[in-house]
Amino acid sequence: EIRALREHLQAERLAAAGKGKNLRIALVPTMGYLHEGHASLLRKARGENDLVVLSVFVNPIQFGPNEDFERYPRDAEKDLALAEREGVDAVFMPSVEEMYPRPTRTQVKVAELTERLCGASRPGHFDGVTTVVSKLFHIVQPDRAYFGQKDAQQVAVIAQMTEDLNFDVEIVPCPIVREPDGLALSSRNVYLSPEERKAALVLSGSLLQAQEKARGEGPVTAGEIRADLIQAINAEPLADIDYVEITDFPGLSPLVDTKRLDEGSREAGVLIAVAVKFGTTRLIDNVILTKK
Ligand code: PAJ
Repeated sequence: EIRALREHLQAERLAAAGKGKNLRIALVPTMGYLHEGHASLLRKARGENDLVVLSVFVNPIQFGPNEDFERYPRDAEKDLALAEREGVDAVFMPSVEEMYPRPTRTQVKVAELTERLCGASRPGHFDGVTTVVSKLFHIVQPDRAYFGQKDAQQVAVIAQMTEDLNFDVEIVPCPIVREPDGLALSSRNVYLSPEERKAALVLSGSLLQAQEKARGEGPVTAGEIRADLIQAINAEPLADIDYVEITDFPGLSPLVDTKRLDEGSREAGVLIAVAVKFGTTRLIDNVILTKK
């Protein structure tokens, strides 16, 4: 299937070149079980390119030994229907055997940016992500690739990899899509019990409050915002905090507690990111404060 996809894309490129046109190809990498967040990436890609390639691959090497690779939700038929609805030109849905005919001996590793936040709680996770995304970039050779800010660290890590390894692809970050009540869409939301689903609203709720505080009048520091978040999340009995971090963005260096975050005093982008477990389900969410 890798070969078929390459041949198809090559034929399309040649056909366009024959008409004196340069084909712009977009890649939207996913692990499937597609929802409106994925659809928003596909729509943005559709609007900005001639051809949209969607990849659906639950990548085993980005899951830790005690994580949910086996039970990660899958629904190829529904994914294909959504792809068709969104006007996707090609769907790449390889098997594990095709992507990894043998355990890979080659990995792509981005240093530093992967050591904190999700990287600290999920050792090796980002090596799996950057390795598979490199493979996808080489297979598809897209002009642009679309990633959601829901995984803010992932966007920063992939942008760094692209720059460091001179991939000729533009990384396009896309805003977080939320349920009407605020919960960020995630394929993992299906794991939540009704009680956990309700409790999970504490993430978007407390992040929104943090954002409003930083936008409001008067000085506010990273330490205050962090303490507020921890208090709000701990007030929810079903929530078990993995991390609450405030860093610069896209650099991901932690900000000292005394650093001011209010609108008037921000010189750089600031990431406020949380990871919280509800039962066995680990959810992440974030807001990015832009510079003044
Ligand atoms: P997956 O979790 O399926 O997400 C695929 C893409 O959709 C990612 O770029 C993610 O940030 C984006 N996305 C997910 N939920 C979103 C939401 N609520 N709003 C906006 N965008 C959202 O991320 C991965 O897969 C994998 O790590 C992958 C990059 C495919 C490598 O295996």
